[in-house]
Amino acid sequence: MTLTSVTASVTAWGDDLYGTALRTGHGPLFLRRADGWLLPLDVERWCARVDDTDLSVLRRCSGPVLDVGCGPGRFVAALDERGTPALGIDLSPDAVARTVDGGGSAECRSVFDPLPGEGTWGTVLLMDGNIGIGGDPAALLRRTARLVRPGGLLLAEVAPVDVDERLSVRVDNGRGERGHDFPWARVGAPALRRLAEGTGWTPGEWWTGGDRAFLALRCPRPRSIARIRPRNGKSRAVPLFMRRRWTP
Ligand SMILES: C[S@@+](CC[C@H](N)C(=O)[O-])C[C@H]1O[C@@H](n2cnc3c(N)ncnc32)[C@H](O)[C@@H]1O
Repeated sequence: MTLTSVTASVTAWGDDLYGTALRTGHGPLFLRRADGWLLPLDVERWCARVDDTDLSVLRRCSGPVLDVGCGPGRFVAALDERGTPALGIDLSPDAVARTVDGGGSAECRSVFDPLPGEGTWGTVLLMDGNIGIGGDPAALLRRTARLVRPGGLLLAEVAPVDVDERLSVRVDNGRGERGHDFPWARVGAPALRRLAEGTGWTPGEWWTGGDRAFLALRCPRPRSIARIRPRNGKSRAVPLFMRRRWTP
């Protein structure tokens, strides 16, 4: 992700259209493409408690959980109630404030910033279309592969149709107010499976709930312990991944 696209995303999600929607708990709010196509943002659902479809995600989480683009924090709150350690990160100060007000932990940071616990998270969540963050899903997959521990999970909500699009969008309230352009992406399960290859992930389970769809990706564990024999003849055990440059 380039510095310009990071700045554009910070401006777009940190601005008052999105902030107002989160503070009031409702839309209408959309991502708008230059040609007028609108993708509705389900602010009411994000500001509510987890629903049955969200529970299908929670059941698959193994802690600790990092919710990337946590919004108002319904997943962080639900994980907290279940005693699973969870942290939300989001570019929007209003999203972070709502998550913290709801009793969860959250920090105002980009997923591309240095983050606490890199390489130790059991599960990273990319919900509600957040695989689109930054407009470059392969870069986001490479980044998240560095956040989880070996064997860790990425649970991504995908588009419920077979798309693989890179977009330039704005937040739009449907009443003539619009924010700045920023990069976004829409990816369905087939495209995410393809992108997983070469970015450090192994595609796993795919499931649906309501009109939403999800794909689990697993970060490979170092599979074997290689024996290396130094010049003094004594062998020692070295995890395989430490012998190569670890480039997921
Ligand atoms: C489509 S909304 C998803 C909302 C959310 N999952 C929820 O439960 O409300 C995208 C969210 O990702 C956040 N976001 C966008 N770019 C980000 C980045 N680079 N790092 C962290 N969060 C980001 C936005 O501020 C916004 O809250």
